[in-house]
Amino acid sequence: MAPCISMFLVTVVLCARSIAADLSPNYYSSTCPKALDTVQAAVVAAVKKETRMGASLLRLHFHDCFVNGCDGSILLDDNLTFTGEKTAIPNVNSVRGFDVVDDIKSKVEKVCLGVVSCADILALAARDSVVMLGGPSWEVPLGRRDSTTANRSTANTNIPPPTSNLSTLITSFSNKGLSVNDLVALSGSHTIGLARCTSFRSRIYNDSNIDATFADKLQTKCPMVGRNNTLACLDVATPKVFDNCYFRNLLSEKGLLHSDQELMNKSSTSSRVNKYVSEPSAFFKDFAKAMVKMGKIKPLIGNEGQIRLNCRKVN
Ligand code: HEM
Ligand SMILES: *[C@@H]1O[C@H](CO)[C@@H](O)[C@H](O)[C@H]1NC(C)=O
Ligand SMILES: *[C@@H]1O[C@H](CO)[C@@H](O)[C@H](O)[C@H]1NC(C)=O
Ligand SMILES: *[C@@H]1O[C@H](CO)[C@@H](O)[C@H](O)[C@H]1NC(C)=O
Ligand SMILES: *[C@@H]1O[C@H](CO)[C@@H](O)[C@H](O)[C@H]1NC(C)=O
Ligand SMILES: *[C@@H]1O[C@H](CO)[C@@H](O)[C@H](O)[C@H]1NC(C)=O
Ligand SMILES: *[C@@H]1O[C@H](CO)[C@@H](O)[C@H](O)[C@H]1NC(C)=O
Repeated sequence: MAPCISMFLVTVVLCARSIAADLSPNYYSSTCPKALDTVQAAVVAAVKKETRMGASLLRLHFHDCFVNGCDGSILLDDNLTFTGEKTAIPNVNSVRGFDVVDDIKSKVEKVCLGVVSCADILALAARDSVVMLGGPSWEVPLGRRDSTTANRSTANTNIPPPTSNLSTLITSFSNKGLSVNDLVALSGSHTIGLARCTSFRSRIYNDSNIDATFADKLQTKCPMVGRNNTLACLDVATPKVFDNCYFRNLLSEKGLLHSDQELMNKSSTSSRVNKYVSEPSAFFKDFAKAMVKMGKIKPLIGNEGQIRLNCRKVN
């Protein structure tokens, strides 16, 4: 009898672990059945009010996941005794959408108090934003918990800068378990949204792999010195639509960021760019898959972390 009992216990322990260890799209279906609709309604309202917000919410999830995993760490505010990630170089004067996240969170808290994590809200808002702007949909694995810490220096080193060459981009994604193909698909996020002059200045003055007319136009907006925060569209063709134009632009040397155009520098990446130009449905499919993968970077699960009541501060 003893072996049966111990087998039973082993099974229970293993099942309990696997439930905790896996994120699941149904995670809130009994604890907060209205969670997904509530997030979606708030995202739809925010993107209707300002199209760019869809891009900003998508980017927040990326910058969250690349720094110690998708744990909501980017949302923590600095105070006298705590320094978070908001002032890290890739984030400061650049990441946005925090007020919208607060609004989503307060609506979610009204339907289920203390149940839905800020990290999951970011993952859902990224998906809902992409759908809203015409991109693909996917099921979002859920059950992430929120961090009690943040790390500015990790944000500085783990989020690649726009001056990155291709090998740096590949290494930076590979450090997060993402492949070269994931890098190309996820870079397609730059089919929406804006970048500041400081992010593309060296490209438009110093790069040779750039369309001359495109560079001239940008130089009138973004002088050699000053106007650092002037904005330009990451996708010059259809900046407000989630489509494959980002990749088309690369074929004519109209990538806005140095890092964008770098995807054309090696056949391992340029062949994917070509594929996404000729086959937009392949881009959508690969993008959705890569987003799920990115969303699974080192989540806090089970008893780890907490469900923050206010995304800006530890409970
Ligand atoms: C491959 C490496 C990447 C680099 C070097 C990079 C760099 C940048 C830079 C410099 C900006 C403009 C920031 C500014 O000037 O304020 C930007 C914007 C943006 N990035 Fe990326 N990015 C990368 C990958 C990604 C990924 C993986 C995603 C999403 C999954 C993403 C989504 C976005 C979006 C949507 C915007 C526009 C945000 C807005 O308008 O508010 N990026 N990125
Ligand atoms: C941030 O991460 C770095 C590198 O892993 C580590 O050395 C440092 O102690 C961390 N800082 C905080 C505040 O956790
Ligand atoms: C890419 O950039 C890194 C860091 O700036 C540099 O060390 C490396 O030599 C560069 N690689 C190539 C192939 O240019
Ligand atoms: C503009 O950006 C450059 C570097 O990108 C920096 O050296 C300069 O101080 C910035 N100017 C202002 C007014 O912030
Ligand atoms: C262009 O490159 C030169 C030489 O590396 C550098 O001195 C200059 O600051 C760069 N210009 C811009 C706008 O980045
Ligand atoms: C690779 O990138 C550099 C800029 O870093 C560019 O000048 C060069 O022409 C590119 N090489 C190829 C083969 O496209
Ligand atoms: C500062 O922020 C940290 C992290 O959110 C929090 O734990 C701490 O209570 C805050 N301190 C004050 C004085 O608000």
